[in-house]
Parts: sequence; structure tokens; C-alpha cells
Amino acid sequence: MATKRLKVVVTRKLPTPVELRMKELFDTVLNEDDHAFSEAELADAMQTADVLVPTVTDKLDGRLLARAGDQLRLIAQFGAGVDNIDVESAVQRGIAVTNTPGVLTDDTADVAMALILAVPRRLHEGIQVMESGGFDGWTPTWMMGRRIAGKRLGIIGMGRIGQAVARRAKAFGLQIHYHNRKPVSSKMEQLLDATYWDSLDQMLARMDIVSVNCPHTPATFHLMNSRRLELMKPESFIVNTARGEVIDEAALARALKAGKIAGAGLDVFEREPAVNEELIGLPNVVLLPHMGSATIEGRTEMGEKVLINIKTFADGHKPPDRVIPAML
Ligand code: 8YV
Repeated sequence: MATKRLKVVVTRKLPTPVELRMKELFDTVLNEDDHAFSEAELADAMQTADVLVPTVTDKLDGRLLARAGDQLRLIAQFGAGVDNIDVESAVQRGIAVTNTPGVLTDDTADVAMALILAVPRRLHEGIQVMESGGFDGWTPTWMMGRRIAGKRLGIIGMGRIGQAVARRAKAFGLQIHYHNRKPVSSKMEQLLDATYWDSLDQMLARMDIVSVNCPHTPATFHLMNSRRLELMKPESFIVNTARGEVIDEAALARALKAGKIAGAGLDVFEREPAVNEELIGLPNVVLLPHMGSATIEGRTEMGEKVLINIKTFADGHKPPDRVIPAML
């Protein structure tokens, strides 16, 4: 007897090989024109799908999840972060949640490292000079930035991506410091030559560059508030490739304008796709449009993970990348 194929609704356009395989395996509804789903469309999808495949752009809060039909059994997020989903509400309703960890680690760490280099070395300003035809010739004191080697990097959140940033930064001669809920293994600390700071405040006051690499949870919302930004040295820099909500964006703009910190590199924003206008056009700020994991390889492997999670679930097994509230 043929078993009924699971109905899967995918909210955004995914890499073509992933969509093709999704269609082979499941009764799949794709988002051909890649528009962002409205709340009504999300609610509708949750009333018809067995499996929903959302992304960071779909806010699935408790109110919306309460409108899910009983047939919805799995939310297979295309992404590592799940802060767009009220995981506790989902799990309470018997809906499993999965994500795609691991496969975007190197890509995201590369973008963090690119910002760690770009901001102190004023690469964005240099590009602007060239693009506007403003290069009048070399002088000894023009376009001086700050040296990277020998400086202290403070990583907030030493998970997979934080560790990958540390490996890269170590190769550039940075001294690695980190704050995390708990220290990593002593073997990892040795490998990275990393110093653990139990107190984030104390670490911040001593770093030259701070990299945000922790997930956005209720505990990390505005972790970098105006008080903590003021603890940083006036000549220090901050980069964020994790989630915008971890930094109070308005406070950051104020700190940058007042010269309380020297520069920032941001790939993520508090109210994406909106960006605090005060940050736009500042010479010491590099802004990127949430492209940490945007490689063909990364996005395809993220899709592979989504497929594996759904297929395992469809076959009656526990999907490998289940997210449970206790993990958050
Ligand atoms: C993704 C990310 O592009 O996976 C994540 O958590 O931040 C991004 O790299 C996006 O979130 C996909 O949902």
C-alpha cells in the first residue's frame, strides 16, 4: 500500500537542487517568486502542511503557532538560529523543531573575520575613495587604520561559529579571549590559546575587538546594551554576525557617534531588513545584508540538512537536528 506523502510547505526559494529533491521526496509547495510570507500565509501554511520549512524571515510566535492545525508535526527551519520560532510553544503543541547547525560555521566565521579585518583597516573607506575617483596619491599619514596582529579579540559566545572565528583570528595574530555560559574544554582552550572570562563586563573593558557569536535568546537580547558598550575602550571595535537583537542598535549608533567606540562591522540588524538610519553613512561602520551563510555550498548543505531532518522524521525516527527548549 502506498503511504501518503508528507505535505511540505517551504516559505522561501531554496537552492534549485534542494527544491528538486524536496519535490521528489514529498508533496511539496514551493515559493516560486520568493516573496516573504505574510502572517496570513504563514497561518494558512500551518493549517495545511504536515511540515513547514521556514527561515529567519518568518516570525512564528506563540500567537501564530496557536493557529496551527493538528496535522502540523514538524517545523524544519532552514537556518541555524531558531529565534524566529517560539520553540517552547511549538513543542508544547507536539510540533518538533529542527535546524541546520554545522554546515554554515565556516562561511559565517569567514564573514566575521572579514569584518574584523575590514573595520580597523578602513577597507570600506578605501573602496569608497577609489569608487569616487578620490585617490590623489599615497602619503605616509593617509588612511591609517589600526593593526590587527597582537590585539585582543573578545568573542561573545564560544559555540561552533565562535570557535571557528577564534581559529581564523589566531592565524592573524590576535590573542583570543572569550565569554560563554561555561568554558570550553581545556583541550579546546589550549588549541586556541584562549582565555575564558566569566565576567563579560570585565572582558569588554580590556578588548580591542569584540565579536558577537552567540544566539539570540531572551537571555542575550540587548546583551550589548549602552552600559556594556560604554565599558569598551574608545579605540575598540565590535562586529556582529550572529543576531542584531544581541546589540542595542540605537545605543550602538550613539556610542559610535560619540566616539565611545571606534567602529563596527554588522551583518545582522535588530529589525531586519530595517537598519537604524544613524548607522548608515558612518565612515567607521561596515554594513552587510545578513550574508554570513550566503555561499552556494553553505545554502545547499543547509537544504540537505532540512531534507535529512524531514526524511528521518517521515521514516518514523528522531530527526538529527532537533531543537529542544532546554538547549536555548
Ligand atoms: C541564514 C543565519 O541565512 O542560519 C542562520 O541562523 O543566520 C543565516 O545564516 C538564515 O538565518 C536562514 O534562516
